[in-house]
Amino acid sequence: MKVLVATEKPFAAVAVDGIRQVIDEAGYELVLLEKYTDKADLLKAVADVDALIIRSDKVDNEVLDAAKNLKIVVRAGAGYDNVDLAAATAHNVCVQNTPGQNSNAVAELVFGMAIMAMRNMYNGTSGSELKEKTLGIQAFGQVGRNVARIAKGLGMEISAIDPYCPAEAMIEAGVKPVDDVKELYRNNKVVSIHIPATPETKKSIGCELITLMPKGGLIVNTARKEVIDEDGLVEAMRQRPDIKYVADVRPDNAEAMIAEFGDRVFFTPKKMGAQTSEANINAGIAAAHQIVAFLRDGIDRFRVNK
Ligand code: 3PG
Repeated sequence: MKVLVATEKPFAAVAVDGIRQVIDEAGYELVLLEKYTDKADLLKAVADVDALIIRSDKVDNEVLDAAKNLKIVVRAGAGYDNVDLAAATAHNVCVQNTPGQNSNAVAELVFGMAIMAMRNMYNGTSGSELKEKTLGIQAFGQVGRNVARIAKGLGMEISAIDPYCPAEAMIEAGVKPVDDVKELYRNNKVVSIHIPATPETKKSIGCELITLMPKGGLIVNTARKEVIDEDGLVEAMRQRPDIKYVADVRPDNAEAMIAEFGDRVFFTPKKMGAQTSEANINAGIAAAHQIVAFLRDGIDRFRVNK
């Protein structure tokens, strides 16, 4: 069996070593395609592989057509909006993710960016602290829970919204459950976004919600750029010169936003949330184990397609 790791943004070398060990022990062969810039290279590399480990790399119908032996794709990470699930199902390919494995890394970045924004990008002027500020967490999944854990240590007052999470789980974590997304934006100085990009959530955060925020509101987006209505965000920031927006990764209108809003915005040049050696090791090795469990024993606990 041949397993390909195709990562446009590579894992830390130590994570690749860990993946290799799992694959070697199973008696499979590991091949690497790292830092590729041309889709043609991916199409060539997948031609004879049985399994594929990816990150945010796009797996669409064309890739699946080219991968004649492919049985499983594991997205080493949480969000799988980069994989065409229906096409995978049509090609009889199992798609899995590795939920939770990189969530602490993303949660830590939330506070890295939040503190930077609250301190005015360290530009020498007087900023403010997170202690005793209100934090609204939009989606209380693995990342949201880690954000709450860290926020507690910072002494923040935390609430969260998540239609898929029982209120009891939030209360147990010391977080106030909120039912109405407008309430979340209205009552929190800092909002941290953790919703997945789905047809329902795309462009769901726009001017109306953002302008509800209290004075000095800060939005931290470590989810996907697609959940933001970018025109609405720009309009909100024009109407409300006190609002700031920091995001992992750059919106489509990044250049125009930087030109217009300067230090009120910050964007990572590449998605950095999961870019730690710990997250790479956790997610990469989990992906390798899931591939072996699937190919050897048919285990598909983390399957995300039908
Ligand atoms: C995820 O969905 O797991 C994160 O966005 C990380 O993505 P990455 O593996 O491309 O860094």
